[in-house]
Amino acid sequence: MGRAVTVRVPAKVNVQLAVGAARPDGFHDLANVFLAVGLYDEVTAVPADELRITCSGPDAAQVPLDTTNLAARAALALAERHGVEPAVHLHIAKDIPVAGGMAGGSADGAAALVACDALWGTGASRDELLAICAELGSDVPFSLVGGAALGTGRGEKLTAIEVGGTFHWVFAVADGGLSTPAVYGEFDRLTAGTEVPEPSASPALLAALRSGDPGALAKALSNDLQPAALSLRPSLAKTLAAGTEAGALAALVSGSGPTTAFLVADEETGRKVADALLASGTCRNVRPAVSPAPGASVRPCVTASGTA
Ligand code: C5P
Repeated sequence: MGRAVTVRVPAKVNVQLAVGAARPDGFHDLANVFLAVGLYDEVTAVPADELRITCSGPDAAQVPLDTTNLAARAALALAERHGVEPAVHLHIAKDIPVAGGMAGGSADGAAALVACDALWGTGASRDELLAICAELGSDVPFSLVGGAALGTGRGEKLTAIEVGGTFHWVFAVADGGLSTPAVYGEFDRLTAGTEVPEPSASPALLAALRSGDPGALAKALSNDLQPAALSLRPSLAKTLAAGTEAGALAALVSGSGPTTAFLVADEETGRKVADALLASGTCRNVRPAVSPAPGASVRPCVTASGTA
């Protein structure tokens, strides 16, 4: 058997998503405060005759296995730049909710890039990897770096943010996904004829992250895409209400949704909120997680005699 490289990569929640008016290229300028959360996909790269993608996990059937998958596009982009054959089998062990607003597809793109770079020995610099990530999608650079960061431009220009503690979350996974372009389109429809302010990071939010105080973070959470996601999926309002009634400090739609995020004071409250959300029948599944989490990183290779 050839060498295998496995990369673990986190999901994200947007603790602030300030959205500006649509740009001429169709994208929106953002002040996007990303926080990586400890729900992970793993992408394993092994040499193969040609590029092949497989996926396992409860939502695997919803994951495309062709070149629309960001993992495949990442491998092709790196191979083309370095003049190598994209002869690799990428297996995605999927645990991040699919089409849920938690950057699962972006995560797989970043992980595949790191895995192929290690497998092929292309030795791409961090800056080159970040540039390829930005070509793949607006959220992909953050999946590479993890932690917490402010994304400006369309979200791809990152500045690291300090986080002073561990935050506890419960994520409620909805039935079916939401298309990100559709949610941005609904944002445009809802804001048509109004003055959309320039997006900027909230000083109160940045201070709350720095302090590690969940009560302060709860007061500062915001997502400009939430009205659009609720407009397309009105049932999410019931999920948000169920979580706050059960004791969450705050609730919001994660990115473009339809996953909803509940910030809780501690693990114990998280368990109560998770149970109440499941009992409410307003979501398909619940996932507790903590943040921040590290970015895409190569897993140590485990052999029969221990870590290689
Ligand atoms: O960059 P990414 O491919 O993830 O974007 C998916 C879609 O989300 C874009 O085609 C666009 O419709 C929307 N989008 C946007 N403004 C952003 C990021 C994404 O309008 N800053």
